[in-house]
Amino acid sequence: MRRGAFATRIGAIATAVGSAVGLGNIWRFPYEAGTNGGGAFLMIYLFFIAIVGIPLLCAEFAMGRDSRANAVKTFASLTGRKSMGAVGVMGIVASVLILSFYSVVAGWTIEYTIISFSRGFKSTDVETLHSLFNSSIASPAKSLFFTWLFLLINYFALARGVRKGIESLSNLLMPVLFLILIVFCVNSLMLPDAGRGLRFLFAVDFSQVSVTTVLSAMGQAFFSLSIGLGCMLTYGSYFKDSTIIPRTAVSIASLDTLVAILSGIIIFPAVFSFGMSPTAGPTLVFETLPAIFGAMAGGRILAPLFFILLFIASLTSTISMSEISISFCTEQFGWSRKKASAAVIGLSMALGGLCALSFGPLANFKICSLTVFNLFDFASSNVLLPLGGVCASLIAGWAYPRSRLAAQLSLTGNKLFSVIRFLLRYIIPLCILLIFINSL
Ligand code: PFF
Repeated sequence: MRRGAFATRIGAIATAVGSAVGLGNIWRFPYEAGTNGGGAFLMIYLFFIAIVGIPLLCAEFAMGRDSRANAVKTFASLTGRKSMGAVGVMGIVASVLILSFYSVVAGWTIEYTIISFSRGFKSTDVETLHSLFNSSIASPAKSLFFTWLFLLINYFALARGVRKGIESLSNLLMPVLFLILIVFCVNSLMLPDAGRGLRFLFAVDFSQVSVTTVLSAMGQAFFSLSIGLGCMLTYGSYFKDSTIIPRTAVSIASLDTLVAILSGIIIFPAVFSFGMSPTAGPTLVFETLPAIFGAMAGGRILAPLFFILLFIASLTSTISMSEISISFCTEQFGWSRKKASAAVIGLSMALGGLCALSFGPLANFKICSLTVFNLFDFASSNVLLPLGGVCASLIAGWAYPRSRLAAQLSLTGNKLFSVIRFLLRYIIPLCILLIFINSL
């Protein structure tokens, strides 16, 4: 079977950015920073992006482009052991768990798009916004409907081959999202309690840091960069030979981090100015943004535009996570794209349904004191992705021939290569394992 390839360098970067930038930056980053003490979380997060994220992104791209195959086959062939394909299988499991809870939040963006078109957001009152959110999210019928609608849209994009169209649309629209975020930032910075919000986000107070903070910051770095589950490896397998991997990885990580920080600058000044709590959790952004739109000039027009763009950003991320399983099923079992897409989306609809109900009828159904939604989020981001990261790092550092890795990274004979390889061989695996052991 002929494998696809990205036509241009910009196309390759834009598609990988499309995977990285999504709800992880705009929804998950602020809520994780909010529940984990703000500034200290941000510092640790930046540390992980630089020391763990960028080298692993390079390694995934390099291994994918070298083997030009799905993650399971790549790990098996690079190590010469079939059993190592299990690392790829773990990534597939993680991607389905993420797809399931991510689709619930993406469903909220669809519902908020509709609300912002129809009646708009007028109130900045905490209680009113809280009940607006609850009336949509806690309603099982609505929540299921929007989660499944989002997954069905994914199915059509994946099976009908309009994926490419959505990706080019996203390439076109992401600069617009970026501009809107800047407008919102300026607006948030003019709110009465903006200073408190900024202090919360940027002032580092390490006395607040616990192992959970470190684990969460690490999980967020993996989640946001889409690494540790073979997603970027799969995208790397479609890269052209002329793509310069380290430069691409740094561009992606920088853009991704910038969007997360902008999102923090939008949310926290508003949280303090409108008297909300930064520790609200997954609902934080969906209660804060409407207050921002309600209070700002032009909010009536910008709100629907923003939610549409957020929806498209989510779609390019979910397309990338589905691609891991689809490329596996088509290449390994010889399934058609349609059949593979139906299997992946069907399974996610079942699991996503449970996640959607976690905010309503299943709110009290807990495993290890977590709702299904929170469990899927925690198990994938804080356990499976870092674990996949350890394996990918060890394979790239120890099993993958040094000269081939150097050649893929276009760093043959360069000192920087020794640094990256040292990080992959020792520092990244040790760092992740230590955090795991501590948090146990
Ligand atoms: N990086 C995406 C985001 O921040 O929204 C989420 C994601 C996409 C995670 C693809 C994992 C993945 F394979």
